[in-house]
Amino acid sequence: MEAARHRAAVDGHGDVVRFENVELAEFDTTHRFDVLVGRFILQYLPDPAAALNRLAHLVRPGGIVVMHDMDVSNADVSRPLCPIWNDCYALLRALFRAHGIAPDFGRHLTRVFLDAGLGWPNVESGAMTGGKPGSTVFTWLGSAVQAIEPLLVQAGIALPDGVTIDDSLAATLERAVLNSRAMVLGNTHYGAWVRLDKGLE
Ligand SMILES: C[S@@+](CC[C@H](N)C(=O)[O-])C[C@H]1O[C@@H](n2cnc3c(N)ncnc32)[C@H](O)[C@@H]1O
Repeated sequence: MEAARHRAAVDGHGDVVRFENVELAEFDTTHRFDVLVGRFILQYLPDPAAALNRLAHLVRPGGIVVMHDMDVSNADVSRPLCPIWNDCYALLRALFRAHGIAPDFGRHLTRVFLDAGLGWPNVESGAMTGGKPGSTVFTWLGSAVQAIEPLLVQAGIALPDGVTIDDSLAATLERAVLNSRAMVLGNTHYGAWVRLDKGLE
C-alpha cells in the first residue's frame, strides 16, 4: 500500500488517488465512480456475478465497468513440445482446480456480466507468447510457480520431477525452451467491458 501511495505521489497523482485495502464484500461508499476496473479479481470471488452486480451499483450513469481475467486451461502450450514448460504451466491449472476456481474463468466473463445484470459486454483477448532469448514469458511462469509453491504443497499437488522451484526456475525454463526451439504460451487474458448508460437499477 505504501509503495502504491509512493508511486502515485511520484507520478504527481498523490492528491487525487486514494488506496484502500478492503474485503470486497464489505466495501461500500456513497461515492459514485466513472470507472470500475478489476484485473484478476472476479475469478477469486465465491459469487463473481453477485459481486460484480453490487460493485457496478457504485458506477454513475454513463460510467464504464471493465473486468480482466485469465484462462490457464490450455494443455497445449509449447510447440514443438517442451515438457518442462507444459509441466510447470499445468501447476497453475491444478491449483485453480484445487481451489474450486475454473481455470478458464476468463472465458466465462460474458456470462458473468449477463448474470450480473450488466448486459452483453464487449470482449477482447490476447495470450502472452514467447520463445526467443529474454522473452518475458519465462520470468512470468518462473515467478508464478515460485509464488504459488507453498499453495501447491498445501494442496498436495505433486511438483514435476527434477524441477527445482527457486530463483533459478525462470532461467531453467528459458534454457529448456531455447533448446527445444519452441514457441510457448503464457496465460490467455480476457477483457470485458460495458458502458452503463443509465447506471444499474
Ligand atoms: C492475482 S491477484 C491480482 C492483483 C492485481 N489486480 C493484478 O492484476 O496484478 C488477486 C487479488 O485479488 C485480491 N482478492 C481476492 N479476493 C478478494 C476479496 N474477497 N476482497 C478483496 N480482495 C480480494 C487479492 O488480495 C489479490 O490482490
